Amino acid sequence: MKKQSRYIPAFHFHWLTRWYDPMMRLFFPEEALKTALIAQAHIQPGQDVLDIGCGTGTLTLMIKQTHPNATVYGLDVDPQVLDIARRKTEQAGETIVLQQGSATCLPYSDQSFDRVFASLVLHHLTRQDKQQMLREAFRVLKPGGELYVADFGKPHDSLMWLISWLVRWFEEVHDNILGLLPGFMADAGFHPVGEMTCYRTLLGSVALYHACKPMCHEDLAEENV
Ligand SMILES: C[S@@+](CC[C@H](N)C(=O)[O-])C[C@H]1O[C@@H](n2cnc3c(N)ncnc32)[C@H](O)[C@@H]1O
Repeated sequence: MKKQSRYIPAFHFHWLTRWYDPMMRLFFPEEALKTALIAQAHIQPGQDVLDIGCGTGTLTLMIKQTHPNATVYGLDVDPQVLDIARRKTEQAGETIVLQQGSATCLPYSDQSFDRVFASLVLHHLTRQDKQQMLREAFRVLKPGGELYVADFGKPHDSLMWLISWLVRWFEEVHDNILGLLPGFMADAGFHPVGEMTCYRTLLGSVALYHACKPMCHEDLAEENV
């Protein structure tokens, strides 16, 4: 596995990690957003599901609790945040495979998953790493598998434009605000790619995206005729 020496922790600074969950609950439409993302994914019993950049495991746990017959994996680069995810999983009495690793070099074989989620992780990655993570998501998805992303996106109204302008150099959010994520997904091979909905938050618009890995190359060729 490629060594990931530098990364942006869940709440920007390591010493804030333990406040991540309470702050998300208080200041972010976390439950609505994550519930909508899971509902859109139509996970079926027996499917294999990966949550990249799972952080404290809130979404990972929600996926498992909503779909107990799915096998759920969570991956994050940060051991500190994974400890919180492990504790929450144990307390909930659920079985989730939690693993440390990098989003840009996923420790899974090709075509391992039916669904891949990435919630609020892409804005932690440089442009190059965003593109690499999306290529990795494509690689580990089975043909016909689907990617579900929640992340900062292009603002849809003037208030969100103003907030986005103020936070545009925060972490690696700039490309998100410019609306480049769907294009990066298409470049990674996904088709079709779409924005499903978006939420107004205190830090700007958060969009939910859906992207499919075609069943085979012919699917793509036929649709492009
Ligand atoms: C804002 S948190 C989101 C956590 C969770 N997905 C959620 O929706 O609450 C971003 C997470 O991405 C993780 N992360 C950052 N860079 C990463 C990388 N290169 N590989 C894997 N995880 C990474 C951080 O450790 C952090 O837990």
